[in-house]
Formats: sequence, structure tokens, C-alpha cells
Amino acid sequence: MSLSTEDIKDANIKYHDAAADEYDAKWGIDYGPIGKTQVALKTRKVLGREPSFARALEIGSGTGYFSLNMMQNGVIDEVVCSDISDGMLKVVDRSAEMLGFSDRVTTLHTEAEEFPFEDESFDLVFGHAVLHHLPDLQASFDEFFRLLKPGGMIFFAGEPSATGDRLARHPKTAGHRLSPLWRRALRVRRASEHAASNGNGAARDAAYEEGHAMEHLVDVHAFKPGDLTDFAKTAGFDEVRVVGEELSANWFGWFNRALEADGLPEDIPNVWRQYAYRGYLGFQWFDRVALEGRLPASIFYNLMIGARKP
Ligand SMILES: C[S@@+](CC[C@H](N)C(=O)[O-])C[C@H]1O[C@@H](n2cnc3c(N)ncnc32)[C@H](O)[C@@H]1O
Repeated sequence: MSLSTEDIKDANIKYHDAAADEYDAKWGIDYGPIGKTQVALKTRKVLGREPSFARALEIGSGTGYFSLNMMQNGVIDEVVCSDISDGMLKVVDRSAEMLGFSDRVTTLHTEAEEFPFEDESFDLVFGHAVLHHLPDLQASFDEFFRLLKPGGMIFFAGEPSATGDRLARHPKTAGHRLSPLWRRALRVRRASEHAASNGNGAARDAAYEEGHAMEHLVDVHAFKPGDLTDFAKTAGFDEVRVVGEELSANWFGWFNRALEADGLPEDIPNVWRQYAYRGYLGFQWFDRVALEGRLPASIFYNLMIGARKP
């Protein structure tokens, strides 16, 4: 099925508005030491050891994971969090207030191709897990270029690589196949059946099916490193650098997610959750010290890009 630009944007608004309230819990978004460290490690890989930017713009900020942790880490002083989903932006406002950042964080409902700001308004334009949702990437990169001051930078992380995504299908398939055994071993009931027995089954099944169908509509790209380089260079950026991160961590993470996918969340034992989370951090460390920088960017699960406006 081929979708128009407007269809993709509509699907994104619907999907992310519906996800907003549960988003932080679902993805483990955290503003304590773990969240701060996770974001610091990513910024360091592309922006260097102690980056600092006065005025920044986040594209597709979601609930504010990157902006608020970058602010806690002292990387940015002031930020505009932009997103196409009002549901997500409401959560940004709440979390900024909770962290005492309301005077330095503003939210803006907009699409990633056209911003109501003058040329050269920002020192940094950044985002996490957003480029793969954008229908017209060249238009977006051109707009990022316009918005930056000379010497300003772009930084995007968490973008799926085409090869990394293909490789990750193997642990996903293995996890799905083994999931009935896993549920039996850990005495975890099947979410859909349990919901059916208490009368919510049809609604929950429909929501689950719709969520899955929507994922295919909102995830419109997986990249080769060269694709990202080309968008940046065509827009006029210099010093373009694309790096890959997370390989074994993602296989481990996707395998566990697939095992858990149809389990009733309240039945999943805490000790399992701890194992899955700490294991993921352990594999992330292994990727960082043993694999990243040694293997080609394209085989990692996530790509990051940094570049400078001349
Ligand atoms: C996967 S989420 C990532 C959110 C956040 N950056 C994070 O890392 O948690 C992608 C975000 O991009 C937003 N988005 C999707 N399409 C967009 C568009 N065309 N313009 C602006 N934002 C968009 C979605 O609403 C969503 O909040």
C-alpha cells in the first residue's frame, strides 16, 4: 500500500496521541541517573565530551526524554520541544515542571518540515527516534539547515539501520516462537485470553491489532548510513558523521520483548524484569567497548548522525 505524506502524518498523530500517557512507562523513560547516563553516552558519541549549546530545537520530542535529560546534563540551556502530537507535548510540559525546567522549555505543535522561526535561530537541532517517521526527509534536513546559525550542529540518534533491522528479525522470530514455553515456565497468563475472560477481550484485541497495523504506517524508513549522509550533504552540511550503535543489546532486548509480547503485564515477575533490564545494559556496555567503531555502522541496530552548518 502506498501512502501519501498526509496519510503518514495523520497515522503518526493518531498513533502517538494514543500512546502518550503510557509512553514513558512502556519505553522505560527515566529522568534519574539511568536516563541521564543513557542520553549522555549517546550525545558524547556524536557531539564529543562536554558539548554545550545555548538554544536548541528538538524535532519529534515525544514526551521529552532527550531534551529534558540533555538539559539535566548541562548540554543545552534552552529548548523548544516540537512534535506533531499534542498528547506527547502535554507530557513534556508536565515533566518539565516536575524537573523545575518550565522557564527554559517551550513546546510547539508543528510538523518537521516547516517551523515558525527566522533563519539562524538555533545552535543545535536534534532528535531521537524521529527521522524514520518523517515522510519528506530532504525537506526536513533543508529546514534544519535554515534554522541553524553558522557553526550550529544537527544531532540525531536512535534511527533504525536497514541491515540492523533485518538482522533483528531473527531474535524477534525466535522470541515469538518460544513465548508459549516462556509463559508456561514463568506462569504468565496470555494477555488476550485473560482480557477475553473478563469481558474486555474484544476491545483489547482490537487495540492490539490496531497498534500493530499502525506501527507499519508510522515507521516509514530504515536507513543505510549513506542515505543519512546524502540528506545532510545535499542540505549543505559539513563534517557529516554517521555512526552505528547497539548490536548484541538489541538482539537481547528484542528477544525478551518478543517473549513477553503476549504475556499479561501484571504476571511478569519482577526478577525477570530486572534480568531483562540489567542484561540489556550489560550488552550495551559490551557493544560500546568491543564492537562500536570496529564494525561497519550499517550492521548496528541504531544509526546516529552529526553534522555542522559551515
Ligand atoms: C518514536 S517517537 C520518539 C519520541 C522521543 N523523541 C523519544 O525518543 O522518546 C517519534 C515522535 O515523532 C513524532 N512525529 C512523527 N511524525 C512527525 C512529523 N511529521 N513531524 C514532527 N513530529 C513527528 C511523533 O509524534 C513522536 O512523538
